Amino acid sequence: MKILILTSGGDAPGMNKVIAIMQKKFKNSLYACEEGFKGLIEGKIALASTFSPLASEDDAGSCIRSSRCPEFKTRRGFKKALENARRFDYVVVLGGNGSYKGCCELNENGVKTIFIPSTIDNDVKISDYSQGFDTALNACQYVIKNTMPSMAAFKRCAIYEVMGRECPLLAQKTQEKMNCNYLISSQKDIDFEKISNIINENYGQNLATSIIIKERLISSEELISKLSILSPNVGIKYIQVGYLQRGGKPTKKELYFAKKFAQLAIKIIKENKKSRAIIYKNNAFQIY
Ligand code: F6P
Repeated sequence: MKILILTSGGDAPGMNKVIAIMQKKFKNSLYACEEGFKGLIEGKIALASTFSPLASEDDAGSCIRSSRCPEFKTRRGFKKALENARRFDYVVVLGGNGSYKGCCELNENGVKTIFIPSTIDNDVKISDYSQGFDTALNACQYVIKNTMPSMAAFKRCAIYEVMGRECPLLAQKTQEKMNCNYLISSQKDIDFEKISNIINENYGQNLATSIIIKERLISSEELISKLSILSPNVGIKYIQVGYLQRGGKPTKKELYFAKKFAQLAIKIIKENKKSRAIIYKNNAFQIY
């Protein structure tokens, strides 16, 4: 039995845990593909044990490394990837929605695949939860909790930029959890007058303002300069939560999910099942 594991797209806290559990179980039957689908195309494949010393299983990131791979979507790239994937009894893919599509394509071409939802964006359509999201959300909350007291001291306005270029979930959940004053999760929320009214009203009541913005909607310079004109008395600070969201220590929930995902992947392989995705739906782990 030869099993291949790869991580694709943005790394997600919990990936290393899955790799470590599978490596302990399958030992020299588990191979890793370096840098996701890119490595699959290039044939950069080695025993998973050669990568495991690179990270602790409870660290974020991916010890087998990841990449975004447009070449996988080309005929030539896919053909090469397929050739390498066919050498294995199973290919285990950890990633987000795009990686799931890649996984399905391999499956449609005769490769047995197992997909594990892993992205801080939580954008995998077939699953209610993707590992990484809780850790990322936790980091956003941490940054807000530890900066707002300083904002309050100056009655300032903090604008927190949260990741999720194609998915507003992280921004929405952060706003909800922290009860922030305003959420900019799409272009239609960029209403300078409305936002500055909130800022000015808070300032008038000796309060600071907190705003969440999903990344890549507007440049920070433009946002600050326009709001500064409408709220001239208030200091406006732009805080990018950034890679703290992806690189932070996985939370307990994350490690629990990683363990369950890995255990189910092992079960599928041991029972020699067909291609499957492991999902969390309606409060339960499921084989899909
Ligand atoms: O897909 C995960 C993610 O962290 C998104 O939230 C973010 O938009 C993107 O990756 C950033 O990607 P990169 O690190 O490649 O710039």
